[in-house]
Amino acid sequence: MAAVLPLADLKRQAAPNNWINSIIKGDCVAALEALPDHSVDAIFADPPYNLQLGGALHRPDQSLVDAVDNDWDQFASFQVYDAFTRAWLLACRRVLKPQGTIWVIGSYHNIFRVGSIMQDLNFWLLNDIVWRKTNPMPNFKGRRFQNAHETMIWASRDAKGKSYTFNYDALKASNDDVQMRSDWLFPICSGGERLKGDDGKKVHPTQKPEALLARVIMASTKPGDVILDPFFGSGTTGAVAKRLGRNFVGIEREQDYIDAASARIEAVEPLGKAELTVLTGKKAEPRVAFTTLLEAGLLKPGQVLSDARRRVSAIIRADGTLAANGEAGSIHRLGAKVQGLDACNGWTFWHFSEGEKLRPIDDLRAIIRTELSDIG
Ligand SMILES: C[S@@+](CC[C@H](N)C(=O)[O-])C[C@H]1O[C@@H](n2cnc3c(N)ncnc32)[C@H](O)[C@@H]1O
Repeated sequence: MAAVLPLADLKRQAAPNNWINSIIKGDCVAALEALPDHSVDAIFADPPYNLQLGGALHRPDQSLVDAVDNDWDQFASFQVYDAFTRAWLLACRRVLKPQGTIWVIGSYHNIFRVGSIMQDLNFWLLNDIVWRKTNPMPNFKGRRFQNAHETMIWASRDAKGKSYTFNYDALKASNDDVQMRSDWLFPICSGGERLKGDDGKKVHPTQKPEALLARVIMASTKPGDVILDPFFGSGTTGAVAKRLGRNFVGIEREQDYIDAASARIEAVEPLGKAELTVLTGKKAEPRVAFTTLLEAGLLKPGQVLSDARRRVSAIIRADGTLAANGEAGSIHRLGAKVQGLDACNGWTFWHFSEGEKLRPIDDLRAIIRTELSDIG
């Protein structure tokens, strides 16, 4: 079974990382208070919806709809719900690393209140993702549109948090080389994935689909990151995090859900390192200055570079700039100038001679990048 930590066993700040890959039993605000500052890389939160159901809901054949009427979803008023939301979001913000991001999922009942409080607390909204359900429940009374989606708000810890993880290139490559959009299509959790008790009933009324969590985690975390879920429920975040080589910490107050989540996570086999390597694009590669090629002895001051057809040439100066026809500048600026263009990628435009052949200086940059990645 995955480890379960009673809240009392957590010692703030001084604690070793005994809470990583465990489920903390207790109220999430109190449990978050016991975790160290800036200790998690990402948060996925699926808070109570505050559905405000006015009594039991029946289908036209009078059978009872399995709606969320649990105690944990009951709040006396919007004010009480807002105060609770503010408290857990504030506690999450302290625990989140400065470059970390948070996801909060909700329905029309709560997501607008949650989003407004997030902005008040200085989270910086990055996207709202619409999870369109392929198999939503019908609107039994026929008095409204069928409610066929939930919304996920994705936000960085604050406005300056520009270096958050977003695996843009991997997402694009996995989407037929087209940018991943903010509307995602997944079925609700059903079939073999849905946890059921011995009585055949659902273990948890709002178990989220693993595919949804997989995309969230693949998009915004790296292998080895710690993902916190303050409303752990049946442990979907933990199960997917473990499979994808990430760490998790879950907080949940209901013992039945903790038991189910713990057994579920225990049964998960993590994928191997090769399967988990994340595709990165050019933007993610380390920046290399042209002068580094001189410092590394790959090019020399006085050496001549030319374009691929040897129509223009320039001399390398000791300060890492190029000069041609009385003009001087960076590899990009001079490349643009000699072609009469506004911009130019100097790395692919300028070539050096190797015997009879010409090779782009980008090949030399690749050598430096390989050396840098070997170090790091
Ligand atoms: C919407 S469900 C989360 C379902 C989960 N994402 C899953 O896939 O199973 C919300 C969960 O938060 C728990 N919860 C509600 N209020 C809580 C609180 N104050 N502290 C800790 N857990 C709480 C509930 O018991 C419930 O399991």
